[in-house]
Amino acid sequence: MEQFSISFVESIHLMKEHQLHIQYRSTTDTSVFDPNVQVLIKETIAFAANAYAPYSNFKVSAALLLENGKILKGTNVENASYPVCICAERTLLSHAISNYPTDKISIMAIYVDKDLPAPVPPCGLCRQSLVEAEARQNQKFKILLISKSGTILQFESCGDLLPLAFNGDFL
Ligand code: THU
Repeated sequence: MEQFSISFVESIHLMKEHQLHIQYRSTTDTSVFDPNVQVLIKETIAFAANAYAPYSNFKVSAALLLENGKILKGTNVENASYPVCICAERTLLSHAISNYPTDKISIMAIYVDKDLPAPVPPCGLCRQSLVEAEARQNQKFKILLISKSGTILQFESCGDLLPLAFNGDFL
């Protein structure tokens, strides 16, 4: 046992260290956003009322702005068979990609209707779907995470939420 831990420490020193850097902005002042993004934020928050979350009571809404100016919205949709539940982000992406296949997304806002100390980041499945949506349109889009208390985090790209992502280039 002792021998094992000594060789482990030694091999760490032989390995090259890498670091990943991501950055995001935060604000509580919606006036910093373009007027159309301010509308997006308001509509995202209001849309949480449409969430179908009878099991978790964790209501999530997401809305996106297409480059053509149209706003699309989605919520989480739960099921008595829990694994069937779908997150708001993926409800929305499926809607956007299938109904507006040629329109690019410029920004997506995500809101959780719960008193929490900070905005809620999307789950791993949603991050993977967001990265694919960005790759599909060959253009980054911003992500806003909105908390009930009014704090907003802005990520410049979905990729920032999923460093070292798996993507279609590997296939
Ligand atoms: N949920 C989302 O809608 N988005 C996420 O990124 C995390 C989780 C939903 C799924 C489920 O209906 C509820 O939140 C609790 O997990």
